[in-house]
Amino acid sequence: MKKKIYIASDHAGYDMKLKLTNHFSSLIDLGTNSNESVDYPDFAHKLTTEVLQNDGSLGILICGTGVGMSIAANRKDGIRAGLVSDAKIARLIRQHNDANVLVIPGRFMEDEVAKNCVKTFVDTEFEAGRHKKRIEKI
Ligand code: RB5
Repeated sequence: MKKKIYIASDHAGYDMKLKLTNHFSSLIDLGTNSNESVDYPDFAHKLTTEVLQNDGSLGILICGTGVGMSIAANRKDGIRAGLVSDAKIARLIRQHNDANVLVIPGRFMEDEVAKNCVKTFVDTEFEAGRHKKRIEKI
């Protein structure tokens, strides 16, 4: 992984975050750091701030369903966060949507699927072309 890749979760995504940071050692971990209850918007804001300030970087957010993190992250101008259910969608949100944040439903995804989603998301480039015009319309 050459790009800066940030990762953050709330308490419901903490166990999955731990598995992903253990597997992908270059991930930059922005917390949370335990199963103690926290508020997912705090971590969505923290991570999206880093992604916006670091050109070419990407982010990974995890909460229980992935929905809260998606809603919060997509409030920020310049953030395109996509909630995925498998690696094929993780590839398509990079190719078609130029997504800069991958959102994982920590309580509803198998570990191996999540690892594949991360690897695919990070290794896939935006296709631009017809997709660029559509993104500019958002
Ligand atoms: C936390 O219990 C849970 O509500 C949160 O992780 C997330 O799923 C919200 O969308």
